[in-house]
Amino acid sequence: MTDNLSKLLTRAPVVPLVQSNDRSEAVAIAQALLDGGMLVLEVVLRTDAAYECLEAITEAFPEVEVGAGTVLSGAQAEKAIAHGATFIVSPGLHESVVRVAQDNNMPVLPGIATATELQQAWNMGLRTVKFFPAGLAGGPKMLKALSSVFRDVTFMPTGGVSAANLSEFLEIPSVIACGGSWLTPADAIAAGDFGSITQLAKEALAIAQRRK
Ligand code: 3PG
Repeated sequence: MTDNLSKLLTRAPVVPLVQSNDRSEAVAIAQALLDGGMLVLEVVLRTDAAYECLEAITEAFPEVEVGAGTVLSGAQAEKAIAHGATFIVSPGLHESVVRVAQDNNMPVLPGIATATELQQAWNMGLRTVKFFPAGLAGGPKMLKALSSVFRDVTFMPTGGVSAANLSEFLEIPSVIACGGSWLTPADAIAAGDFGSITQLAKEALAIAQRRK
C-alpha cells in the first residue's frame, strides 16, 4: 500500500467499482463519483473496452488513484499497469498477479475468503487484502475472527457491501475501506442518470464519516 493510497482511503474509505464498455461513459461515471467525494476508484476488467476505460479515467483525473479490478492473471496485471492503473485488485489470490504488482512496486489487494488463503497472502508479504465475497464469506463476524489472528493485516471487504451494511464493516478497526458496485448501478448508467451516482457516493461517504 502506498502512502498516497492509504491517505486517500483514510479520507474516503469506499472504493466504487467502475464497469463500462465505453471510454466517455467511463469518464462520466468517474466524474459523478468524484463529484460525490470519492478519491479512489476501481475499474473492473470485465468488458472489451475495460483497459481503454481505465486509461481514459487515469488521463482525465491524474490526481485520483485508479486501480484495476477483476485482474485474473499476471498478463492482465501488466496490461492494466501499462494503461495507468495505480493498484491491482483480484477476486482471488494468484501468485503471478501478486508478483507482477510487487515487481512494479504497486499495491495489490488479492481476494481472500479463508484463513488459509490469508496465510498464503501474508507469506507473500501482503498486509492488505480484499475480503471477497464479503457478505457470503462470513461478513463482519468472519472479518473479526480473521483480524484476531492476523493482527497486522488490513482488509477491503467487497461483494455484498451496500449502504445498508457499510457501517457494520467500517467500524471494524482492521477495515481500511469497503469496495462495491452498489455506487454505480447499471440502470442509472444506462439511463444517463449520473446525478444519482453522485448521490450514492455522498451517502456512502456520509456513512463513513460517522465512524470517525
Ligand atoms: C467485485 O468485483 O469486487 C465484486 O463483484 C463486487 O461485488 P458487489 O457487486 O456485490 O459490490
